[in-house]
Amino acid sequence: MSMDFFEYATKQKALLAGTVPSSFFELENSNRSLANKLKIVLDKIKAKLFKMKLNIRDKFIYKFMPKKVILVGTGGHAKVLVDICERMGKFKIVGCTSQDSEISRFCGYKIYGSDSNLEAIFAKGITSAILAVGDNKIRKKLAKMLKEIGFDVVTLIHPNSIVSKSARIGKGTCVMPGAVINADAKIGDCAIVNTNSNIDHDCVIGDYAHIAPGSSLAGNVSVGEGTLIGVGSSVKPGVKINKWSVVGVGSTVVRDLLKQKTYFGNPATERKA
Ligand SMILES: CC(C)(COP(=O)(O)OP(=O)(O)OC[C@H]1O[C@@H](n2cnc3c(N)ncnc32)[C@H](O)[C@@H]1OP(=O)(O)O)[C@@H](O)C(=O)NCCC(=O)NCCS
Repeated sequence: MSMDFFEYATKQKALLAGTVPSSFFELENSNRSLANKLKIVLDKIKAKLFKMKLNIRDKFIYKFMPKKVILVGTGGHAKVLVDICERMGKFKIVGCTSQDSEISRFCGYKIYGSDSNLEAIFAKGITSAILAVGDNKIRKKLAKMLKEIGFDVVTLIHPNSIVSKSARIGKGTCVMPGAVINADAKIGDCAIVNTNSNIDHDCVIGDYAHIAPGSSLAGNVSVGEGTLIGVGSSVKPGVKINKWSVVGVGSTVVRDLLKQKTYFGNPATERKA
């Protein structure tokens, strides 16, 4: 039930004069709140339809026009990324660059020479790259080189990983199958969150870090830039691990590791020279 201003003013006047019962206005207010609720529901439906439209459009674009990417690297890590990329269906690998001059194909893709050819590849219109090198230091160097040329280093997230909607995944980072990244975790750029690893709430993982397969970080853990958390390691809640350090396979980290060193064991301690 809606009223124009004149009707409203007349009713207001009549109410003041005591000729209209106040229940009339209660009814009017309840109608208004119903209309508001309806508007909220309609807005939600509109937003959902818009999202659906975007999803359909994106799927259509990826199906018929996937983004062309060059794979930089041809080692074991690169094989896993080829798998993820093919499953995501969002990118089309046009070929690879490799430091191995002996091979001419990799996972069925053509090799376009070594990394020194990346500038020429970019000039041909391939402007996106998958940074497929497992070594953290080399990955950092290559990331710098790719960015300087102008490449967009793409982020790969396996469809069978679980990433909280409040988690942040940096550019060029790869999330492998079975990995779980929980609420408010922040993963830096060009990092690796490997198969079946768990990164719990509020963890902060630096750029170029590598959380190896099967390792578990409890809540609020921080891992510095370029650090490797070895296969199957566990880290106690809130622990801080310095940058460019290594935690050996199967370690249990219960205290902060503040030096830039290699640690292993249960509890993890610094490796003696
Ligand atoms: C810690 C690490 C870096 C040490 O490597 P390294 O310098 O080559 O050391 P070595 O293998 O020569 O081992 C040196 C000693 O440390 C011991 N050691 C090495 N790693 C260990 C570990 N994780 N836990 C317990 N002891 C370990 C070795 O048994 C050896 O002991 P010894 O001298 O009594 O025989 C390596 O063992 C490691 O764990 N790397 C992580 C690998 C990983 O998870 N990669 C991710 C792949 S996706």
